[in-house]
Amino acid sequence: MTHSSFIKSRKNILSNKLYNLIKLFKKLEEHKKENLTSFTPYLFLRFFSKVHFFLKKKKLDLKLYYSAIDNLSKEIIDILETSKNFGFKKFLKNTNLSIKNKKDLKTEDYYGILFENFSDKHYYKEPYDLLKTRLKRNNVNLQLFKNKRILDYGCGNGRYTQAIAKLSLKKLSRYNNSGEPQILGYDKSKTNILTARIKNRFSNVEYKVGDVNQNNLPKESFDIVFCNGVLHHTGDISLGLRQIYKILKSDGICIIYLSSTDGIKWYCIEAFRKILKNYNKIYFFKSLVNLNLNYNKIFYLMDHVFVKYNDLTTKKEVENLFKSSNFKIIKRFNRGHSIDDTERLFQLKKMNPKKAFSVYGYGEHRYILKKNI
Ligand SMILES: C[S@@+](CC[C@H](N)C(=O)[O-])C[C@H]1O[C@@H](n2cnc3c(N)ncnc32)[C@H](O)[C@@H]1O
Repeated sequence: MTHSSFIKSRKNILSNKLYNLIKLFKKLEEHKKENLTSFTPYLFLRFFSKVHFFLKKKKLDLKLYYSAIDNLSKEIIDILETSKNFGFKKFLKNTNLSIKNKKDLKTEDYYGILFENFSDKHYYKEPYDLLKTRLKRNNVNLQLFKNKRILDYGCGNGRYTQAIAKLSLKKLSRYNNSGEPQILGYDKSKTNILTARIKNRFSNVEYKVGDVNQNNLPKESFDIVFCNGVLHHTGDISLGLRQIYKILKSDGICIIYLSSTDGIKWYCIEAFRKILKNYNKIYFFKSLVNLNLNYNKIFYLMDHVFVKYNDLTTKKEVENLFKSSNFKIIKRFNRGHSIDDTERLFQLKKMNPKKAFSVYGYGEHRYILKKNI
């Protein structure tokens, strides 16, 4: 199930403006004589930093976002004019950002690169604070994690695996009675697993390379499966859910985060997925590194944009997916950390629900699920 072009079906001012922007970027990319794509990473950074600033400041005025798109469009027109009036270097294949590698990076290898160089602050402190706040604000007792066997399914570089361990398992020994590690991080990327092992601070945490769509983990063996921002990138959310069902104990819980739809952020991401379709992920990543951005910021910017699958779901769609995979919903997180759309939505929706939805959409889809037995 793919909803990757949800903005096509929305037909509103925002989607029209973004479609015009896509056309303008195409002109930049297809400029016959000169290489103009080197401007794109900076334009991308400037645009998203503006949007995130407005989102953070809880600006419900859509005109602000429209004007950010209009300004970006003007900047592209300026670049095209500068090319005409002044000129840039001739088009050279090896300097053009919009030429993909013949063999495109696999999803897991892409994340391996994005996650490799997080600073300690963004690796240990930030995820711990985010997780704790999200749980607390949704009245989830942190004791829930104590003495439980936990799987971080699609753990990336292990930043949340470490946060979970810090929350709950400091005093436990390396193995539980069955000889298995108490907390397991599991990801398809070898680079991520290597990074996670290097950064691991707990003797009772281990990491393993594997596919969330097809695991050979023991059946009904985990009390908690934590799956944060993974299944919308695999191309088949249901398949991943069925795999979680299989390995979860009958009284276990799944704590899951999936992307949603609507909201300015998703519109912009969808537009840039089209704009950057042909761009080389590695060159683009390096351009952002050269702009001296922190690696966590590069991850936040590039996460959904270049990855092969980014399946977006409305609230109804995601809840139907859970039900059809035989899960029941124990809790939807209606609150979040201040960086979460969900929290902003929570604070603003009493004032103006319609406007709050147009800016923040459904917020993040964060749920606690249980097996329907
Ligand atoms: C957005 S990252 C989230 C990582 C981590 N959960 C976090 O929140 O930091 C998505 C992760 O899913 C992993 N992934 C994608 N497809 C996968 C698959 N089929 N099997 C296992 N891992 C996969 C990627 O390698 C990447 O680390």
